[in-house]
Amino acid sequence: MTDRYCVFGNPISHSKSPMIHAAFAEQTGEDIDYTAIEAPLDDFAGAWRRFTAAGGRGANVTVPFKEQAFSLCDTLSERARRAGAVNTLLLGADGRSHGDTTDGVGLVRDLEHHGVSLAGARILVLGAGGAVRGVLEPLLAAGPASLLVANRTAAKAEALAVDFADLGEIRGGGFDVVSGPFDVVINGTSASLGGELPPLPDDLFGTGATAYDMMYGAEPTVFLSWAAKRGACTVDGLGMLVEQAAESFFQWRGKRPLTEPVRESLRRTL
Ligand code: ATR
Repeated sequence: MTDRYCVFGNPISHSKSPMIHAAFAEQTGEDIDYTAIEAPLDDFAGAWRRFTAAGGRGANVTVPFKEQAFSLCDTLSERARRAGAVNTLLLGADGRSHGDTTDGVGLVRDLEHHGVSLAGARILVLGAGGAVRGVLEPLLAAGPASLLVANRTAAKAEALAVDFADLGEIRGGGFDVVSGPFDVVINGTSASLGGELPPLPDDLFGTGATAYDMMYGAEPTVFLSWAAKRGACTVDGLGMLVEQAAESFFQWRGKRPLTEPVRESLRRTL
């Protein structure tokens, strides 16, 4: 029998997740049906309940429901508990809802696939919102020499650093405390959406450094264009999208799809 999965969001019509999971299913021979569902803004729990009552086995969760998904779970992975958000739901055989977040492991795997070594690296993360909170646990688990979180609102970055201090060498502050060089600089702000750039010093990048933007598009983001002019290798967030999906697929089906061909075919659709 075909097993049902979906991605919940609002809006959701532009989601690439159905295309990605269809490619994974074809590649691995798994018999799944994966659709996009627009959940009501004020009743995510009801949407999940209706989906599972109709035979749904699991779901991805995107904006703006990751915190509501977190709240309804009966059990949580450690990384989801740390993130305070859930992007992957799994219905257990006992009918209980389990929550995980695969965004951070998606980021770390994408960096690895691009040949970027995080162990011993000096990492700068820009931003301190939900997107950044969701990736800090796997970044720290990769064993960087240091991790600085810098944010427009300094207090939010400082609070994040306190929350994650038991996991590794992490500091937080405003953009004024940023002083290079760094080996890896990750933009997790939504500034690129408005075509803006956080105020950053010119000497941010060490030799061979990588600039990573969690956003992606047909054209390089403002941050990646800026970084390329300063000599950094640049990577956008399309691979992170595919890698987080692959980890969700693994949680549901126990199989790891190849991600590179899916990333490349997705790139051609941008
Ligand atoms: P998300 O879920 O995408 O992380 P969020 O929680 O609203 O969304 O966080 C947005 C992040 O982008 C924050 O770090 C925000 O900085 P503030 O905490 O100071 O608001 C950052 N951001 C948004 N627009 C920005 C801009 N123009 N310049 C710098 N940082 C910006």
